[in-house]
Amino acid sequence: MGKVDISYTDYFPEMARWLSTDGILLVAQGKDGKPNAMTIGWGTVGWIWGKPMFVVLVRPSRHTYGLIEEAGDFTVNVAPRALREALEFCGTISGRDHDKFREQGLTPVASRKISSPIIQQCVIHYECKVVQKTDVNAVAFLPEITETYYPKDDFHRIYFGEIVAAYADPDASEKLA
Ligand SMILES: Cc1cc2nc3c(=O)[nH]c(=O)nc-3n(C[C@H](O)[C@H](O)[C@H](O)COP(=O)(O)O)c2cc1C
Repeated sequence: MGKVDISYTDYFPEMARWLSTDGILLVAQGKDGKPNAMTIGWGTVGWIWGKPMFVVLVRPSRHTYGLIEEAGDFTVNVAPRALREALEFCGTISGRDHDKFREQGLTPVASRKISSPIIQQCVIHYECKVVQKTDVNAVAFLPEITETYYPKDDFHRIYFGEIVAAYADPDASEKLA
């Protein structure tokens, strides 16, 4: 069954829950043509600069960081219940030393509008084109945040990805329940 177009607002409450619990899968593919999936939890969906936007925070130490820099785009993929293990794997193992797609049996499928692919086995997809990026301002934090989240100075880069396509499996809700 083909994937059907959705509005970026369709899963607002669910997205807040997924991001704050098991996470979702960000895929970026750099110049070497190898897709890589990373679990993300820090992100949000909204309307900025007259565009639907997926905002994500990526630490420079992640392999994904270099891939987004090269590609200028990324996809965000919501995993069904059956892929919960992949979320943990992709959130602890680096694509620098592992082919996470192969090792987790994930299938990359060409996106409709951007270069980074989606994950076929996921059920909701957002194709995002980077329209702005900025590094968090280390000196502007409340000290408690710096102490808790940045003991190694691995300050996040914030990517603003315009959602240029969003679609889902018609039975996504059943696979997520
Ligand atoms: C639930 C969960 C959420 C995560 N959220 C983020 C995030 O928002 N940003 C980030 O830089 N790393 C996050 N991570 C850590 C990365 O997923 C992890 O370091 C991963 O192995 C990086 O993969 P890569 O080196 O292939 O890019 C998260 C991990 C988990 C388990």
